[in-house]
Amino acid sequence: MVASSPADAMLHAPVFVHLRTYGCQMNVLDSEILRGLLAARGFVITADEQAADAVLFNTCSVRDMSERKVLGKLGMLTQARTRRPELVLGVLGCMAELNGDELLRRAPQLDFVCGTNQRQHVPDLLYQALCRRVAVAPVTRHNAAQLERLRLALNGHAPPEPQARIVIGLDAHSTVDERIAVRLQPWRAYVEIMRGCSNFCSYCVVPYARGPEVSRAADDIVAEVEQLVACGCRDVTLLGQNVNSYGKDHGEGSDAFPALLRRLDAIADLCWLRFVTSNPQDISDAMIGALAACKKVCPQIHFPLQSGSDRVLQRMHRRYRCADYLAHVARLRAAVPAMMFSSDFIVGFPGETDADFQATVVAMEQVRFASAFIFKYSPRPRTAAARDFPDDVPTAVKEARHQQLLALQNAHTLAHHQQQVGTRQLVLVDGPSKTNPAMLQGRSAQYFNIVFPGTAQLAGSFAEVCITHATPLTLYGEQLP
Ligand code: 5AD
Ligand code: SF4
Repeated sequence: MVASSPADAMLHAPVFVHLRTYGCQMNVLDSEILRGLLAARGFVITADEQAADAVLFNTCSVRDMSERKVLGKLGMLTQARTRRPELVLGVLGCMAELNGDELLRRAPQLDFVCGTNQRQHVPDLLYQALCRRVAVAPVTRHNAAQLERLRLALNGHAPPEPQARIVIGLDAHSTVDERIAVRLQPWRAYVEIMRGCSNFCSYCVVPYARGPEVSRAADDIVAEVEQLVACGCRDVTLLGQNVNSYGKDHGEGSDAFPALLRRLDAIADLCWLRFVTSNPQDISDAMIGALAACKKVCPQIHFPLQSGSDRVLQRMHRRYRCADYLAHVARLRAAVPAMMFSSDFIVGFPGETDADFQATVVAMEQVRFASAFIFKYSPRPRTAAARDFPDDVPTAVKEARHQQLLALQNAHTLAHHQQQVGTRQLVLVDGPSKTNPAMLQGRSAQYFNIVFPGTAQLAGSFAEVCITHATPLTLYGEQLP
């Protein structure tokens, strides 16, 4: 393409961009915002990778497996690039942030990388790459020594520094005008209330990949949700690595997040409000009070336990014991009896014995989660666990523990589903079911996946459904008149 400015370039011919997303809801939202930024600059977003002039990867580094998936796909596209030399390839997100320079060295076909907190530069970088001008790596250069001091301070190993709050270049993230996200379903939306994480769980790369916690101003969040609702959104999920510490970086107390929930609960046409993720160490009375009081907040909480063993939790730098966790669950259930819990677990954390693992099994039996993500530990570069503990649980043991927890969770999920048979559920309909397009699929307030016969025009509206039968993945029902 020969052009002297992005506007010129866009006038010459449409440029088709395919963006693939890996990882968590944060990345899903970042991709929606990226699509909005790209579309606003005249790029055409396409779901068809073969037809794309540029393929961008929004990557995840949270587990080794996540990175391997991207590297495999990148390898395949690098071959395609030999056949189509004009194809542009870019890596965004956590892998770019953590390893951008190395990626550019190892994959010479890669045109550019762009770190997690620099998404506003992607349209320019893409344009420059289309002109074959640059291969640049703008990442937020978190000061490694500052991050390490913050980690030590937060884990009680060193006194906090007077200016422990780290300022990074995130001003753009609190503005509403950047949020021109392209959402596929206007009736549901993710809304970012904070970026980054300052918890430094010993296994986790997120504080290094996304930087320390930075909260958005409550007024901006409320304005964004009001705007979404005015455009037809009914179900909003607030996103943060640890929503319970929302506002702490601005010196606010543990009531900042409950106060935000109460303000959002008052928005007239909003129907459902959810949030992820809640770190058990930061759950407060104010938070539990708000959950009970706010009628739009759905009775569903992602509340990652990680392990049922106090010894393992301590080595993970999770600042709660299993008994504290169970007490929180009991208080949450007392306040909101319909509350459904989901969790993350890591099996095979360094030093995890059979007894430690058994404690996780017992905790799972006690809580009976509606759903859970179960991961095999993988050491991540820069993390305290990778540095301090050998990855000493044999692969076969990790695999066996993984299988055992999966089987237990599947049984619990099925039991929860079976309890819904005969109940009436309000369902926000998403459209035809992916597995059976003759049926409709939607979600209940408790986020159960519900499939029932109906016409596609119902997409985006609520239907009342009587549940007739249940499988481990899905509830089936009939629409009530
Ligand atoms: N190994 C395995 N699982 C991990 N997670 C985070 N880091 C690792 C790791 N190094 C899991 C945790 C977290 C979820 C998002 O990913 O369970 O809650
Ligand atoms: Fe990672 Fe812990 Fe932060 Fe969650 S709370 S993102 S597991 S460091």
